[in-house]
Amino acid sequence: MKRKWILILGMLVVLVGLFSLDLAKSRPRPVTTAIRSSQPVVSRATRTSDQASSSKKAANSQPTHNSERVLIIYYSRSGTNYPDVTLKHGHTWQIAQEIAQVTGGTRYQIQTAQAYPKNYQATVDQAEQEQQDNARPRLKGKLPDVTQYETIFLGYPIWWSDLPMPVRTLMDQIDLNDKVVIPFSTNAGSGWGDSLTTLKRQYPQAKFRKGFEIEGADVDHAHKQIRRWLRDLGY
Ligand SMILES: Cc1cc2nc3c(=O)[nH]c(=O)nc-3n(C[C@H](O)[C@H](O)[C@H](O)COP(=O)(O)O)c2cc1C
Repeated sequence: MKRKWILILGMLVVLVGLFSLDLAKSRPRPVTTAIRSSQPVVSRATRTSDQASSSKKAANSQPTHNSERVLIIYYSRSGTNYPDVTLKHGHTWQIAQEIAQVTGGTRYQIQTAQAYPKNYQATVDQAEQEQQDNARPRLKGKLPDVTQYETIFLGYPIWWSDLPMPVRTLMDQIDLNDKVVIPFSTNAGSGWGDSLTTLKRQYPQAKFRKGFEIEGADVDHAHKQIRRWLRDLGY
């Protein structure tokens, strides 16, 4: 009798064991196990999205223009400036920097043989006289060789509603007629003034693309605007 009960108990233990094994098989695995056991899937997914994002990045940063073919010529004056600021580097200089960063182009800063006065008003007076005289102030250093470049960014501040005369000196000596010319400029409220007309008159065969002008006082906060303009140009 005792042995019979032991047998029944034994069978019960085996049945319970089998039953619980079956339950375990059909029960959904906890999420943590699923994540752990599908590690390769997760990492593949991660890699895929990494690859996707890096190829997306690559596509975005894919230069549509060859940086070696981009030259950034600009004039910018440091010292006291409008509105009552002293600049280590001028406003236009800042934009040239940003263009160089984005395009990878080469910069060339126009410099006069004789520096303009540090004093703002003295410079304004001198520049007025130069404009009335249609002067061509002498430049310092070698002019850029533009033959290897396809696109020229040309930057300048507005002086007396037009291009500063040192820029005209350079323009008389380098031919940009077969180039893509992209002007950029800073001012104190005149916008482009007459500068675009002057540029187009000098280089009637050049292909002008959308330029960028801004008040000098706003340049510090123009990072996004500048980037957007360059992006629209395909950089
Ligand atoms: C000689 C001189 C003439 C200027 N004439 C004008 C002008 O006619 N219209 C204007 O809006 N700003 C004028 N400005 C202000 C400059 O265009 C402005 O401050 C510009 O941002 C300076 O750029 P930079 O720092 O790169 O030299 C003049 C500035 C100077 C020094």
